[in-house]
Amino acid sequence: TNLGSLLTKIGVHDFQSLCADFPNAHTLSRPTDIYRVLLTNVLAKLTGCDATLIYESIQLPNTLPNGDLVLPVPRLRLKGPKPNVQAVELAASFPENQPLFQRPTASGIHLPFFFTPKSLSHLILPYLFERHEAYGRDLTMGLDSSAPTERRKKIIIEFSSPNIAKEFHAGHLRSTIIGAYIANLYESMGWDVTKVNYLGDWGKQFGLLAVGWERFGSEELLAQEPLKHLLDVYARINALFKPEEEENKKARAEGRDTSEIESRGLYAERNAYFRRMETGDTDAIALWQRFRDISIDRYIATYARLSIDFDEYSGESQVKTATVDAVESSLKEKGVYKEHDGSWIIDFEKYGFKGLGTAVVRGRTGSTTYLLRDVAAILEREVKYNFDKMIYVVSCEQDLYFKRVFRTLELMGRSDLAGRLQHVNFGKVLGMSSRLGNVQLLGDILDQSRDAMHDVMRRNTTKYAQVEDPESVAESVGISAVMVQDMSGKRINNYPFDITRMTSFEGDTGPYLQYSHARVNSILRKAGLTRQEVAEHCLRNPASLEEQFSDTPHCVNLLRLIAQYPDVTAAALRNLEPSTILTYLFRLTHQLSSCYDVVQVTGTNEGRDVMLNRAGLYEGARQVLENGMRLLGLTPVNRH
Ligand code: ARG
Repeated sequence: TNLGSLLTKIGVHDFQSLCADFPNAHTLSRPTDIYRVLLTNVLAKLTGCDATLIYESIQLPNTLPNGDLVLPVPRLRLKGPKPNVQAVELAASFPENQPLFQRPTASGIHLPFFFTPKSLSHLILPYLFERHEAYGRDLTMGLDSSAPTERRKKIIIEFSSPNIAKEFHAGHLRSTIIGAYIANLYESMGWDVTKVNYLGDWGKQFGLLAVGWERFGSEELLAQEPLKHLLDVYARINALFKPEEEENKKARAEGRDTSEIESRGLYAERNAYFRRMETGDTDAIALWQRFRDISIDRYIATYARLSIDFDEYSGESQVKTATVDAVESSLKEKGVYKEHDGSWIIDFEKYGFKGLGTAVVRGRTGSTTYLLRDVAAILEREVKYNFDKMIYVVSCEQDLYFKRVFRTLELMGRSDLAGRLQHVNFGKVLGMSSRLGNVQLLGDILDQSRDAMHDVMRRNTTKYAQVEDPESVAESVGISAVMVQDMSGKRINNYPFDITRMTSFEGDTGPYLQYSHARVNSILRKAGLTRQEVAEHCLRNPASLEEQFSDTPHCVNLLRLIAQYPDVTAAALRNLEPSTILTYLFRLTHQLSSCYDVVQVTGTNEGRDVMLNRAGLYEGARQVLENGMRLLGLTPVNRH
């Protein structure tokens, strides 16, 4: 293989046979695993420890000064002196002139290892340039090792899932951003991904919308701005409905019978219309279908601005009566379904599920509930997709709800299926609508962010004059601003929507990330070099790279960071936190900008070879930056 010959050139022989002992080493996708294998080999000879134990003990330090790999010595459980003494002894006996590792110096009970500059030039950069956009991906992660023939594992990611004729709120925005990222991540790891948008397109509110349409609907407005018009119709009828709803709530609180209230006015109209929908009345269904189709049409166009496309627009309306019946009869059969006050409930507490309370599964008026539809939808997806895993990307406000969904499956005797489901949650965005003004649709959020970004760009008049298509740059950078703000912290954290901060070019923001990419991208252009010739140069002349960089710590550190990227994506697949990638990208851009002062590509009169070497370093960093940005769903802007 190429890897074998890269390693032979720096004096590592017979790598293939060494690897046989480490089935968990992903040496073709994670270069640090090559180092791990070789380090384990050296340490096994020194200590006589079991190779697997050593391999599993080697960790990734969290900052560059702490090394590229680190061994906490106590993990080896060696007999003899105290671990800090052992660490010193191990360091002293570590063989001289290892091609991949510098002599370590003990640091307490830790033994930090630093990659040699030689290996960074001879191994890491060529490794990257053999892979380009595939660097950081690992298609073997999605392979089912238990299957007799090669099979990719199937995952469904359900995200965004707005409600038709209702506001697209911050929760939907976060679900969209995080969900698309998780879908990209699984795809880049070789899983077969299906992206599902589970629309809120059913329920009594559609009865109310239809009643509103009879009064306030306009075909003309529906054709012009369908989403806005449906929102408007719903808002108007809902305002009329409010007093009746209040009256009903009050009666219920006082323990009075509410059937009289519900038998007249908009209540009666709404319920009657929804009844017609649930019983399949042709006209009622046709109107609902029109609203649904028109809405999906507009959604598709808006998601395209974020480069998101769904494989399936499903929704609460799509579950079949037969499946709903199957869920209910299973619940009855298991004896967990109880009739109570005309509705059907599950008392989760009774089955030892503390804190889950009691949930209504079929309502008093005989209609299905959100919960019942969700459980039925799972059974249908199981048949349709035979998935290995399904992830719901939904706000933490629905934590309790999803616990109930999963537990319901268990109570039905489907623990096997429940075990394949995961709710990936996230916290709140504070003050989005108040800061952005009138935002009700995804398109509004994106428009306003674009406009705010455009204003910031205009403030730098000289730069602004050079931008070719400011409107489209403002669109991409504005979207990055929103997305980076969202992905900066742990998912579960709440954060304030801060337009000034997110559109700033200073600090760890989307515009800064875009600026960093555009700047590094301009280096080759200004030097008149193509990516291809730079990559080829680096593949052919590693010795010249080494000579160039080994004495420049800024460059060495940049290469060390580049080497880590595939470990970062692997960690991201475990925790599903976008911030894992983003934090890394900011470290990379900061390191990059510290290189600009010391390593110039153009205007140095040092000859073409030097120029190509240096361009190679920047092109390598650019490629990793681009890979990370695309993984997050950001579209790199090439000029700034
Ligand atoms: N439409 C729902 C809402 O806006 C989100 C749907 C989440 N997915 C699910 N399968 N329940 O709250």
